[in-house]
Amino acid sequence: MLNKISALLSEVEEFTADSAQKVEEFRIKLFGKKGELTLLFEEFRQAPGEVKRELGQKINELKSKAQSRINEMKQALESSSAPASTLDASRPGTADSAGTRHPIATVRNEILAVFRQLGFTVAEGPEVEDDWHVFGALNFPPEHPARDMQDTFFIEKREDRENSILLRTHTSSIQVRVMEKSQPPIRIVCPGRVFRNEAISARAHCMFHQVEGLYVDQNVSFADLKQTLLYFARELFGASVEIRLRPSFFPFTEPSAEMDVSCSICGGKGCNICKGTGWLEVGGCGMVDQNVLEACKIDSQKYSGFAFGMGVERIAMLKYQVRDLRLYFENDVRFLRQFTAAV
Ligand code: DAH
Repeated sequence: MLNKISALLSEVEEFTADSAQKVEEFRIKLFGKKGELTLLFEEFRQAPGEVKRELGQKINELKSKAQSRINEMKQALESSSAPASTLDASRPGTADSAGTRHPIATVRNEILAVFRQLGFTVAEGPEVEDDWHVFGALNFPPEHPARDMQDTFFIEKREDRENSILLRTHTSSIQVRVMEKSQPPIRIVCPGRVFRNEAISARAHCMFHQVEGLYVDQNVSFADLKQTLLYFARELFGASVEIRLRPSFFPFTEPSAEMDVSCSICGGKGCNICKGTGWLEVGGCGMVDQNVLEACKIDSQKYSGFAFGMGVERIAMLKYQVRDLRLYFENDVRFLRQFTAAV
């Protein structure tokens, strides 16, 4: 009997299998109703008392070795055969869903692309600014009521006013930063987010986007400004569009104007988008005030410049006829999915 046990033991140790079926066959050969181990246990019951102890130990050793060998082989086969049985290389893949650009980003890119064609480069600046770059250098005198035009979010009000920290209310602050650091010719467009302390409604928001433009060189004239804006309007809204400049006031430009484009929806006849006037307001513009050039250390006798600023949401509203500003900021995918990016 001992010989039988040790023969089985080496059989167990050497056992390998290349299929689950062979493992199962081996298990039955040992543990089945008529299996080797079952028979050994029967024999053991009838064995004389003095050998029982030794025999018992050996049979139990064989039993546990056989069990763990069978489990090992099962596991090895399962892990190596798993990929083969679950991977179906012929199944169609899951497509990655590509996002779409936000409509405000699309419109901003379209605006910038038009000015790039004219040789403007893009300049950016910080959203958290100081009073000097947002107001001081732009010819807003201290205590001047013009500061009330823009409801400012102050972060830190300081005694020396020009060092007060605030959220920029317009991207005109970027033109100051660029002019302080470089000399003409300067030809830049400045996109960015701006902030104003306004109650949120369909027509107003405390955060929106602007693109500001600045051109400073020798002999820059109002005619250059007008031609640039006309080119821009026709590129963006269509070749038949006209522009109109209405006298206005900004501290940083003199003369200043408000820019309208003829309503591209009704062709200037008057509709509910243009409120029957045939014109749509898109932004402000003017000749850079001499005080601004001097504040930025640019010789105002030698150089002149024009500047303009427009609201990106305003233009998006006109292009897409989405009239509620809030929709642009709620990030509702049902809204955003309606726009496919062009630029
Ligand atoms: N900064 C003005 C605003 O936020 C827009 C503007 C008007 C910018 C005239 C200009 C400009 O550069 O010349 O309302």
